[in-house]
Amino acid sequence: MGQLHATNISDYLEEQRGKETLRFITCGSVDDGKSSLIGRLLFESKCIFDDQLKALESDSKRYGTQGEKIDFALLVDGLEAEREQGITIDVAYRFFATDRRRYIVADTPGHEQYTRNMATGASTAQLAILLIDARKGILPQTRRHHRIVTMMGIRHIVLAVNKMDLVNYDAGVFQRIEADYTAFAGDAGLVSLQAIPLSAVYGDNVLRRSDKTPWYQGPTLFDHLDTVNVTDAAGRQAFRLPVQWVNRPHLNYRGFCGRIAEGSVRPGDAVRILPSGRTTTVGSIDFWQDQLPEAHAGASVTLTLADEVDVSRGDMIVAVDAPPEVADQFQVKLLWMAEEVLVPGRSYLLKLHTKEVTATVMEIRYREDVNTGAHLAGKVLNLNEIAVVTLTTSQPVVFEPYTTNRTLGGFILIDRLSFATVGAGMIEFALRRSSNIHWQALEVGKAQRALQKHQTPRCIWFTGLSGSGKSTVANLLEKRLHADGRHTYLLDGDNIRHGLNRDLGFTEEDRVENLRRVGEVAKLMVDAGLVVLVSFISPFRAERRMARELFAAGEFIEIHVSTPLAECEKRDVKGLYAKARRGELKNFTGIDSPYELPDAAELVIDTSSQSPEECALAVLRLVEGR
Ligand code: ADX
Repeated sequence: MGQLHATNISDYLEEQRGKETLRFITCGSVDDGKSSLIGRLLFESKCIFDDQLKALESDSKRYGTQGEKIDFALLVDGLEAEREQGITIDVAYRFFATDRRRYIVADTPGHEQYTRNMATGASTAQLAILLIDARKGILPQTRRHHRIVTMMGIRHIVLAVNKMDLVNYDAGVFQRIEADYTAFAGDAGLVSLQAIPLSAVYGDNVLRRSDKTPWYQGPTLFDHLDTVNVTDAAGRQAFRLPVQWVNRPHLNYRGFCGRIAEGSVRPGDAVRILPSGRTTTVGSIDFWQDQLPEAHAGASVTLTLADEVDVSRGDMIVAVDAPPEVADQFQVKLLWMAEEVLVPGRSYLLKLHTKEVTATVMEIRYREDVNTGAHLAGKVLNLNEIAVVTLTTSQPVVFEPYTTNRTLGGFILIDRLSFATVGAGMIEFALRRSSNIHWQALEVGKAQRALQKHQTPRCIWFTGLSGSGKSTVANLLEKRLHADGRHTYLLDGDNIRHGLNRDLGFTEEDRVENLRRVGEVAKLMVDAGLVVLVSFISPFRAERRMARELFAAGEFIEIHVSTPLAECEKRDVKGLYAKARRGELKNFTGIDSPYELPDAAELVIDTSSQSPEECALAVLRLVEGR
């Protein structure tokens, strides 16, 4: 076994070199004996330090549940408790080794509120151990664990039927559990499935073959882990190199760096650059001072190309005859990992291999009950929920379906303000609808239309609480602009909600859609050459930012009408604040629905300290000054 007790650290490291690494995840809860099993694996592989072992022996006598025996659960439970108090998406990774392989174990809690942790751990694992308590058999949580790990692309499963000592090593119990599992799991695309009867506490069939289970002919857990073939049987060979960065130390050298995601490459190979589609050949494969005759999947290399072609970060260099797909609309499976809900229409940062783009979920097709797999309706996604959704990206991305290639089909969504990871997605397929709708090139453009009107088209976006004076100021401003001969239009929330947006209410997802539509309309009007005034509460930063990004630099001017809530409520022109306070009007901004303060407004005005005329004049000066 891989001895941590090696006399000499360099001997130890030498011994570990060249061994295959197997990454696996353990799924179960403390009650199933997960900690005992991990502790047992570390102990049997001699990957516990001597001092840890001594402490463990004395702790076991004092706190353990195993009498005079060592309680391996104590080895890992401390960490477990620590982690269960935390709210971070973290996973404990443990390491051990045998003579044949090195192991990295992702250890995550098994309860439903830790779905995102389990998915994170599973995303890099090749195999999963599903832990079953022999006395209880297959539970709803087993089905959930199975669903999460297969969704994350794991194709090798070990069904560890633990606590066989508590059912008298009964063959019937084991066989029933194995049959129950195969019945619900179907094939689930699994490449290997091995059920093993064991006792983590006594060590039966972990390292040592148990004499209590003569009816079991299969491998012990260690035998199986050491020999299971997890290399990709499909043997996909096509070369793929997502470009991480372009190395350009001087004018005569351009190297494209990245980690080979798949296949291999040699100098002279014909390659294609995606998404552009340009073809060329590989010049050299550079690695430090050396030039390599070839390089394979997993290697980080720098390629030079025979021709001067345009390649940037996020592009992919691929085998010329078997290119992956390029698209900007997808059906994906999405696991939501954030406390705040996912709202269709809101834009997020999407990271897929080396590519970063903005992305928007268009529609939640259905949510999936994580315990039963049943399809459920849903307008938003909550923490730990899984759904099949459609998604668009701001630019085309190179991808492969997740089931074919985890690296090229798995992505994360990132919040654009906090930069926190909020979702993990798996691309199912591209939606081809977009390829039939082309952008029609028009002869008369924004510039010509603006010139004819003798003005600079703009979008002046007023945001603020209901009753803050947005519409009053916008009205005055439009009157003044109109008198000056400007071509204008005022889009007012209350008015648009009578027509275009009459199907929308005031929930978060409806407001997001409300603002998305008015942003698009304003953009069309600016394109028509108009000076557009928008007067919407627009309470969310993310959507104001989305609107801003629809326009060219300088075209979008955000005016924060910052009149305090108390003043707006005192005015209560429409009586809505009173209604909201009485609880007769739900989701009212400032009362039971948030207003997120702008942090990048071009101008802040307050109608409680200045007259509406003064405010309108201040905006006019700002606009004319540009
Ligand atoms: S936004 O939040 O989606 O930007 P919008 O500006 O279109 O809101 O509409 C706000 C107007 O709708 C308010 O001026 C008010 O007259 C009316 N209204 C009705 N119900 C609500 C509510 N729950 N919250 C805010 N405004 C409401």
